[in-house]
Amino acid sequence: MKTSTPFISEPLHADIKSQEENLLAREKEVCSYGDTVHYAQRPKIFERCEGSFLYDAEGRPYLDLQMWYSAVNLGYANPQVNEALKRQIDQLPQLACQYLHREKIELAERIVDSMKKSFGLKGRVHFNVGGSQAVEDALKLVRKNTGRSRMLAFEGGYHGRTLAASAITSSYRYREAYGEFSDRAEFIPFPYIFRSPFLDPAQVEDHYIREFERKFQHEYTGTWNPKTGRAEFGAIFAEAVQGTGGYIIPPKNYFKRLAKICREHGILFVDDEIQMGFYRTGKMWALEHFDVQPDILVFGKALTNGMNPLSGIWAREELISPEKFGPGSTHSTFSSNPLGTAAGLEVMKLLEKKDYERSVPEKGAYFLDHLRRLQKKHPEIGDVDGLGLALRMEMCEADGKTPARALADRMFQLGLEGKLQNEASSVGLILDIGGYYKNVVTLAPSLEISREEMDLACELLDQVIAQAKHK
Ligand SMILES: Cc1ncc(COP(=O)(O)O)c(C=O)c1O
Repeated sequence: MKTSTPFISEPLHADIKSQEENLLAREKEVCSYGDTVHYAQRPKIFERCEGSFLYDAEGRPYLDLQMWYSAVNLGYANPQVNEALKRQIDQLPQLACQYLHREKIELAERIVDSMKKSFGLKGRVHFNVGGSQAVEDALKLVRKNTGRSRMLAFEGGYHGRTLAASAITSSYRYREAYGEFSDRAEFIPFPYIFRSPFLDPAQVEDHYIREFERKFQHEYTGTWNPKTGRAEFGAIFAEAVQGTGGYIIPPKNYFKRLAKICREHGILFVDDEIQMGFYRTGKMWALEHFDVQPDILVFGKALTNGMNPLSGIWAREELISPEKFGPGSTHSTFSSNPLGTAAGLEVMKLLEKKDYERSVPEKGAYFLDHLRRLQKKHPEIGDVDGLGLALRMEMCEADGKTPARALADRMFQLGLEGKLQNEASSVGLILDIGGYYKNVVTLAPSLEISREEMDLACELLDQVIAQAKHK
């Protein structure tokens, strides 16, 4: 942790504060409130970032435990990714996406190879700019291959907020004001162990699988024709570990059993790895933990370590062959932009070089152990769980079960105020609150986080919980 301004004199402090007030007043006038900035009571302005930390104008560090919703897996201002981007700026910074450049081909090749290694599957990659756009490309591919426009998706699932992506995202909040532009998915419950009626994960798994099987038992469920053997749905869109839904880890064999039923009824399996991909869970793709082969896989965020917008889909050859998905099937001016592909290629090289399959589960176990100790101290932590460095802490009332949204919200605000104590200095904590009841602290620290930083994280979490409880 580097404090760039170790001592700030009173006049300098006043000057920085007045500059910040001025910027915030101007933002109020000219920026739409339609994005997520104004979720915070007082929007925060940052000046600098490095490693696991963001810094405000006064040089105060904020330990980031969510890393831009897992887009910055390899740490802020990662020197190798930065260097790759600088080289690309000097070499070929711009190129229209109808032409080719080396980095695009090599990046696609590495993702194709990773899919062969992880799942033994042959396929192709198709790039776009953001996660939601890649989800839309996946929807196109499903529609083209199956002739079906209805999808299955999960309660608590998040696939983006463009119009078609919100049709398969479970929150009605994102659709209510805009009407339906695309067939809305049928949302099925996710096997959320902590909030299920059963304590045993195997029982949870059996229960939700049985419920799913019911759809295909006879024609009167309204979704399956036993005469043709076909279902109404083109695909199921799934996050192997739910992200925005609250970092929920399903029982071990749930997806394997679900995917088998889907396959038997001609329903494709689309694996949304936008938040959990690129070793967040200790495997390159989170679905690898569950012994399932996807038909289509969607990726984004951490592909470029949060540098240039780049996302994409991988699909099995038979779905995305040139005959099936011909030239111009999708287009976006900035898809496969050379700065994005150069950053992505460097990220893939780093992922291949370093042993994240070993280090992420080790760090995750250390962090989870800390969280379990915090849980003993604070009964308001109803549940903690984790897979690699995707960790959850579910905030509840003192009964350890009733969701405590206000408590989680106070923790978030307190972290942003930057008044927590580390030795003699004041520091901040960047948290993200998710979950069905907006009471889950979803922790996605840098995969490069050190033990000292994890120790600090837990000290700071202890402080915010204690302060939030007594406010
Ligand atoms: C699982 C998942 N899918 C899709 C998206 C949408 O990606 P984007 O915000 O880049 O459009 C997100 C973003 O949080 C996500 O977590």
